[in-house]
Amino acid sequence: DAAGRLAGLTMTISAGGTREPLDPVRFLGNRSSGKQGVALALAARDAGAKVRFLAAHMEVPAPDGVEVVLVETALELRAAALHAAADSDVVIMAAAVADFRPADVSGTKIKKRDDAADPVIALVRNPDILQELVEVRDAASHGQLIIGFAAETGDAEGDVLEYAQAKLRRKGCDLLVVNHVGRDLVFGQDTNSVVILSRTGSEPQEASGSKSDVAAAVIDRISVELNRVVP
Ligand code: C5P
Repeated sequence: DAAGRLAGLTMTISAGGTREPLDPVRFLGNRSSGKQGVALALAARDAGAKVRFLAAHMEVPAPDGVEVVLVETALELRAAALHAAADSDVVIMAAAVADFRPADVSGTKIKKRDDAADPVIALVRNPDILQELVEVRDAASHGQLIIGFAAETGDAEGDVLEYAQAKLRRKGCDLLVVNHVGRDLVFGQDTNSVVILSRTGSEPQEASGSKSDVAAAVIDRISVELNRVVP
């Protein structure tokens, strides 16, 4: 029964793009619309899961029937994700997390001044939340399933997959949902085309269509993996 497949499970899903402030009015952001994350949350909710939805900046509203936590920056998302993951059976990191944030945040609006040199923005690395979630999971040695997303650019499909396989191993998550962004522009669109890679080494699985179709394929795959890892 598809409707109750995830009944009794708690899922944390992050979506949207983080915004890293420069001053009170400016930020560094990215093109994530949040649409794929929303589609995942809807599919998980409809399959009976209790969903914790961690929403960074999105161009679409958060879904009904899920617990929504609003976040702005990568550091806020990290805190929310570590908290929500603590009692989640599944964690999906669909958010586009800024890899870097401005080293200094000005308390007042940065002014342009003719007598001063043009400003230079120094950046510092944000923590890799996905990797941290895996470390916490492994330290606790419970059967939590962790899913990452990756937007890759590359000239050839083979390169993209090879690179993504390496990322899956590096990050240690169970599934990696890979977009080839050089090939299709997916940001803000209603359709998507992905390859789902698994740490267990099963064949890469392609899914494409509407973002709901892709979400359904990811949720299907999650229920298969859960049946494999749950004792
Ligand atoms: O390394 P890359 O940014 O391509 O990895 C993408 C995956 O890692 C996504 O699942 C994203 O949510 C997650 N991520 C993260 N923390 C970061 C950067 C990415 O959790 N600082």
